[in-house]
Amino acid sequence: MAKKLTQEEVLAALGQVNYPGYTTDIVSLGIVEEVAPAADGGWTITLRNPSDREELLRDIGGRIHQSLAHDLGAGKVEFRVRPLEPELGEKTGRKRLDGIRHIVAVASGKGGVGKSTVAANLAVALARLGYKTGLLDADIYGPSAPMMFGTGEERPRSAGGKHFYPVERHRVKLISIGFFIDDKAPVIWRGPMVMGAVRQFLQDTLWGTLDFLVVDLPPGTGDAQLTLAQEVSLDGAVIVTTPQDVAVADALRAARMFRQVHCPLIGVVENMSGYVCPDCGELDEIFGAGGGGKLAAAEGTEVIARAPIFEELRAAGDEGAPLTTAKPEHPASAIFLALARRVAAAMPAD
Ligand SMILES: Nc1ncnc2c1ncn2[C@@H]1O[C@H](COP(=O)(O)OP(=O)(O)OP(=O)(O)O)[C@@H](O)[C@H]1O
Ligand SMILES: [Mg+2]
Repeated sequence: MAKKLTQEEVLAALGQVNYPGYTTDIVSLGIVEEVAPAADGGWTITLRNPSDREELLRDIGGRIHQSLAHDLGAGKVEFRVRPLEPELGEKTGRKRLDGIRHIVAVASGKGGVGKSTVAANLAVALARLGYKTGLLDADIYGPSAPMMFGTGEERPRSAGGKHFYPVERHRVKLISIGFFIDDKAPVIWRGPMVMGAVRQFLQDTLWGTLDFLVVDLPPGTGDAQLTLAQEVSLDGAVIVTTPQDVAVADALRAARMFRQVHCPLIGVVENMSGYVCPDCGELDEIFGAGGGGKLAAAEGTEVIARAPIFEELRAAGDEGAPLTTAKPEHPASAIFLALARRVAAAMPAD
């Protein structure tokens, strides 16, 4: 005889079920869409977009069954899985931009994981490989391209009408929301303007011809990011995470968002993955190991770069020249050049 349970009790139990490979539960990850009592006294659990992969789905199902039917005595448990919504991307009528071959987003679930550092170094690395490259810094919360590229007081030049020229530094054409927003404007005001602003940056900037436009997106997975991801006609996304589980759980959400809008994941960059001892050269994994790998496995993608903590990487960002251009011989520069090659190789033929 099934035990009579309330919806809250069932939900609380699901809140104890971790996503396979994570220390975060399926409720916090936003995977549980609906918990409904079934006619026979059991429960129907609807999961939203938990994974494309059979073995993960089976594992999640097994864990839920264990928790509800076995531990809690909830009677029959039935699952429904609502897959990704395939129309979402097509509906919005994304358009390609004249003269721009590939648009690649650099995104993260959490702030402060090194997204802008990766975007800036990826952009200069692509330029060093001979690609004509632009960087669109669309991070309304912390635009950092002007500082990282040392643009000082320089602003995009008007070309008459509403068009303007990007600022060019270290062979990268730059447009940053930082060129346009008032530093003192409260962040809450920036949200509504960002959508319009990004659209405008894309359409009204005279980029010339570009092989790559790298977009530094704001962190997180809210509506603003989702809209941007749709608006920006992306060819692929690079997800940046640190190795800790909390960061990885947020990154997983970000990865899912891109899949939802049909933007292919190029792969995961695990940043600040340990510290290389300057004396012995050994890697010390101070933040734990393998977070990027877990994320990649859960999303069916790969870790395409791992960048340890290098003091010079931070210093270069503060001094106005990304390390990959300031010190090409530095080991971090080699990591970003390799990343740029992976990104270029992942692009569809055009
Ligand atoms: N691998 C690294 N080694 C050393 N310092 C790093 C590394 N990656 C990033 N940093 C430093 O960490 C800080 C945060 O990095 P960054 O600004 O790139 O992160 P972000 O994810 O873009 O943050 P935000 O959410 O604020 O935009 C910066 O001071 C940067 O120089
Ligand atoms: Mg940033």
